[in-house]
Amino acid sequence: MSEIIRVEHLKYVYNPGMPDETAALDDVSFSIEEGDFVGIIGSTGSGKSTLIGHFNGLNRPTSGKIIVDGKDMWAEGSDLRSFRFLVGLVFQYPEYQLFEETCAKDIAFGPKNMGLDDAEIERRVKEAAAFTGLSDDLLQRSPFELSGGQKRRVAIAGVMAMEPRILVLDEPAAGLDPEGRDTILSQIKAYHEKTGITVVLVSHSMEDIAKYANRVLVMSHAKVAMYDTVEKVFARAPELLELGLSVPQVTQIFLKLRQKGLDIPIDVYTVPYAVKTIRRLWQQEQGKGGGADAS
Ligand SMILES: Nc1ncnc2c1ncn2[C@@H]1O[C@H](COP(=O)(O)OP(=O)(O)O)[C@@H](O)[C@H]1O
Ligand SMILES: [Mg+2]
Repeated sequence: MSEIIRVEHLKYVYNPGMPDETAALDDVSFSIEEGDFVGIIGSTGSGKSTLIGHFNGLNRPTSGKIIVDGKDMWAEGSDLRSFRFLVGLVFQYPEYQLFEETCAKDIAFGPKNMGLDDAEIERRVKEAAAFTGLSDDLLQRSPFELSGGQKRRVAIAGVMAMEPRILVLDEPAAGLDPEGRDTILSQIKAYHEKTGITVVLVSHSMEDIAKYANRVLVMSHAKVAMYDTVEKVFARAPELLELGLSVPQVTQIFLKLRQKGLDIPIDVYTVPYAVKTIRRLWQQEQGKGGGADAS
């Protein structure tokens, strides 16, 4: 695998020199491998949105570097526009930015801006609509006739249609009902699996991160508190709780059992894995007892 994003000693200050000066990012360094699905988690105000705004050049570092696909974004003579195509950013509540008369036109807006021909634009609109489960009938309707979840999927499809190398989404499931959340997040997961594109997903739900990401970056007070595989981060559940973050319910149960003295692992973060772990422990116990049939 090769590195697609590298962040070096990134610092970002809002309103420098003013009484309300805020260091939103302080000495942040990490890198993302191409093809990864990275979840970014942290309490409100920890710097998540400010961080991802750097990935496509929306925010300019106060100091430090952003390197995308081997190129220093803010180096002299660098072509910022090319980074906007490389990194597709889906803002929070992106449905507020829909404005065309039909959903199809809204999805086509980005590809049109890229100067692609009509046939290619149509192919991309169709593909993005398929990834986000939007029917042909819906595509011909005005975005304003759609439900909240459908509107959001149109907005996400618009970014997918630009075929970025990296898709970055800021809380894509925020404000949706549980069904809407699951639909959108599973579609993003399927898109990642089918295309192999790097996905960065900001969420404040540990359950969602556990279910969809393979690596987790934990932000706390403008700094990176942890950055590792999902298993390794959830194995540090007590520290996560100290940072004011929750851990998945199933991890909390395993943590409690361990506190009660049971010799069990705590890097358990999905229900299927929990079942597997309990089965395995059960079989070990049966084995110790000798003779009992554990099949
Ligand atoms: N436009 C802004 N002007 C001033 N301060 C801001 C602005 N946006 C965010 N901040 C501050 O920067 C810090 C990080 O915010 P943000 O990146 O939005 O965090 P998160 O997305 O994790 O909630 C917070 O202290 C927030 O108040
Ligand atoms: Mg935010």
